[in-house]
Amino acid sequence: MNPKEIFKALQTEIETTQYGKHPAELYDPISYIMSLGGKRLRPMLTLLSASLYTDQWRAFLKPAIAVEVFHNFTLMHDDIMDCAPLRRGQATVHEKWNANVAILSGDVMLVQAYQLMLAASPERLPQILARFNRTAAEVCEGQQLDMNFETRWDVTEDEYINMIRLKTSVLLGYALELGGILAGADAASCRLLYDAGVNMGLGFQLKDDLLDVYGDPEKFGKQVGGDIISNKKTFLLIEALDRASGQTKETLTHWLNQTTFDKAEKVKAITNIYESLDMRALTEAKIDAYFQTGFDALGQLPSPANTAQKEVLMAFARQLIEREN
Ligand code: IPE
Ligand code: IPE
Ligand code: MG
Ligand code: MG
Ligand code: MG
Repeated sequence: MNPKEIFKALQTEIETTQYGKHPAELYDPISYIMSLGGKRLRPMLTLLSASLYTDQWRAFLKPAIAVEVFHNFTLMHDDIMDCAPLRRGQATVHEKWNANVAILSGDVMLVQAYQLMLAASPERLPQILARFNRTAAEVCEGQQLDMNFETRWDVTEDEYINMIRLKTSVLLGYALELGGILAGADAASCRLLYDAGVNMGLGFQLKDDLLDVYGDPEKFGKQVGGDIISNKKTFLLIEALDRASGQTKETLTHWLNQTTFDKAEKVKAITNIYESLDMRALTEAKIDAYFQTGFDALGQLPSPANTAQKEVLMAFARQLIEREN
């Protein structure tokens, strides 16, 4: 199945879904964030994964959208936690309304995600919900670790990888696994789909970290340098702390210890340090490696996974490596 056709069907489904009306402060932010766009990556993965086994992917639009609604709920709360002013090129919900609105709208989005998931066939629902619950709890675990790491200086690369596996990758894994479950794939295939998604998800979050430093503000849609401003322990910062020495290390720790500072100045100074340490190339190599591990898992999917559709899925995923937002 052609990804463009799936994307179009997803957009229509998202636009026609009723998120509620009264009180407006509760429901307007949902329509707002859902209509801002975004890549629709997770439901795309679900339906591309289902397409490996059936051409009846339209039957799974609602559970696919459930994953997107869940993702947007996490973004609404994440933006409060990260003090982020911009999302998809527009004001974040807590900036446009306020933090309480963003908390409560996010809460009801989580409920709506479950409601949409109920459209899956009754015999598959217990498994779908059990895996969804596990994934959703792990996303929260990852988000808490991400916050804990802001004030720690000794975060290791392994701890970082575990944190992004939880906050980001397991949901991509689940999105692919869900497509397999919905389409009736066997347990071993669902496991491979999950592993593929988790590995691509690690590459995906590393790319997000990279774009947070090097993204083109016109295309990125989020505040460039947000991670630097809040001392996020991204792959770039962890590796830079490890590699820097002498004057470079002093400058780096100076900026990390500042409590009041000019944001643009700090972003520029730390970006310069990343440049001098060649962090970009190092991160890109890591991104490629995780995506490759994901592609290898997809390559191992046994029959009846459709070989031509596997290529479509891999080509779709490959674009994520070069993405600009
Ligand atoms: C942003 O997700 C949060 C991360 C896990 C990096 P996306 O990059 O998929 O955001 P949208 O949905 O396309 O806006
Ligand atoms: C967020 O990671 C992951 C989740 C929303 C669970 P980030 O905080 O890096 O995502 P962005 O950059 O704000 O989209
Ligand atoms: Mg964020
Ligand atoms: Mg965050
Ligand atoms: Mg980010």
